[in-house]
Amino acid sequence: RTAQPVIVAIDGPSGTGKSSTSKAVAAQLGLSYLDTGAQYRAITWWMVTNGIDTEDPSAIAAVAGKPEIVSGTDPAHPTITVDGVDVSGPIRTPEITAKVSAVSAVPEVRARITELQRSLAASAKNGIVVEGRDIGTTVLPDADVKIFLTASPEARAARRSGELKGADVEATREALIKRDAADSSRKTSPLAKAEDAIEVDTTDLTLAQVVECVITLIEEKRAAK
Ligand code: DC
Repeated sequence: RTAQPVIVAIDGPSGTGKSSTSKAVAAQLGLSYLDTGAQYRAITWWMVTNGIDTEDPSAIAAVAGKPEIVSGTDPAHPTITVDGVDVSGPIRTPEITAKVSAVSAVPEVRARITELQRSLAASAKNGIVVEGRDIGTTVLPDADVKIFLTASPEARAARRSGELKGADVEATREALIKRDAADSSRKTSPLAKAEDAIEVDTTDLTLAQVVECVITLIEEKRAAK
């Protein structure tokens, strides 16, 4: 089997297992990995740190080009820095999580981050797994394989509160539904399944099962190439 670069887009709402699946698939197939949510979180962190009102789209648009965001694409050790500062921890706080939807809805922010994503995908030698909300629809519409992960709100909230160690499941569920609604209803490239994406409902699947399913789909695509 020839190892041609393969571009894999994995989209879906939060708590469907996108990150765990994408990292494992990339590691097993020797591909690069990009967490695009981390990039939106990083730019949100920069806005908050610099006192920009995250409810003011024009204030955000005016400075969207300022922060330098660098993503490391090794699935075994993904990194993200803003102006040289490692922000992998600070971008996961509830404050950033609550503000990221508003910041990521600003077209100037999306244009900037989309450009970064396309250039990382183009420079990945063996190929890349890119996870997000609009990868199959907008960022990489020509991706070789497009997956759209879903799961019931209950399963998603349970997973997220497990990750957040002891967070209240009900509160997590509400925050998650609110964020998905914002991400799905925004004007510029909302969370959506691409027409040619394969939908995988992960509600009753283990991580290993989802990974196997995605790898099979990629291998089929590669064999047909
Ligand atoms: O995957 P995540 O929860 O870390 O993503 C954080 C937010 O970033 C999500 O609520 C919406 C936004 N996002 C986006 O708009 N487009 C993407 N491709 C990825 C994330």
